[in-house]
Amino acid sequence: MNDLISQLEVFLSQSRQIVVMTGAGVSAESGIATFRDHKESLWAKYDPTELASPEGFAKDPHQVWAWYQWRRQQIAVAQPNPAHYGIAKLAERHNLTLVTQNVDGLHYRAGSKNVYELHGDIMKDKCNASNCDYQQPAKNFEAPLTRCPKCQDEYLRPSVVWFGESLNADLLFKVEQATEQCSLFLSVGTSSQVYPAAGFAELAYRNGATIIEINPNATGLTSQVTLAINKPAGEVFAQLNLTG
Ligand code: OAD
Repeated sequence: MNDLISQLEVFLSQSRQIVVMTGAGVSAESGIATFRDHKESLWAKYDPTELASPEGFAKDPHQVWAWYQWRRQQIAVAQPNPAHYGIAKLAERHNLTLVTQNVDGLHYRAGSKNVYELHGDIMKDKCNASNCDYQQPAKNFEAPLTRCPKCQDEYLRPSVVWFGESLNADLLFKVEQATEQCSLFLSVGTSSQVYPAAGFAELAYRNGATIIEINPNATGLTSQVTLAINKPAGEVFAQLNLTG
């Protein structure tokens, strides 16, 4: 482990521009469930087509709402871990773009700024109507499903991207630009299975960037990385020298 940490420190110190892409694994040590790496993961226990798709919401909005309210309650009491804090600290001395697939907001709570949240923010409500722009921080994580207070027509839903929905085009463009310019792409705690997010590491690889992965398990990306640190992200960042 020490040798891997030293190698990571050297790569970081030599890098002009860094993109950090995080996934559910970065929040695992904060007690937030991942989606697909073991039998307690969310998609092992729940059906994403029922709980994370427009069709699922249309079929049973109360069930979907209740599931997201349950997740919000867990996230509200979770705390950022050394990986979230370490990434925020790294940005103080590097030109770093932080991109996350997570909707839990823990990067912001750890002090990161300008986080590109590709899949949205679970702690916000938005109107399910495409022609209504209502979006507000959710206040009551026990409240039942309600209609949008602005248009009074459609239901409110969490402000996250569901399967079959498009990601924000401006955000994708910014991430693409940062990825094309980076010399180091650091993938932390993602299975690299969900696109378009997973495509950014591939783009960085094609452009000749160094790819480093922090993940206790091998992923589809592992064969392309220069350095694979197969340890939990919180442990890695806790050992990293982030001063100087
Ligand atoms: P996954 O659940 O697919 O993958 C989590 C990854 O984290 C796995 O590769 C684990 O090995 C790794 N991991 C587990 N514990 C870790 C730790 N302590 N430190 C580092 N890595 C650890 O989650 P994502 O790749 O984020 O989309 O999934 C991508 C998207 O799929 C999510 O954003 C979500 C889901 O459907 C939406 O909700 C739109």
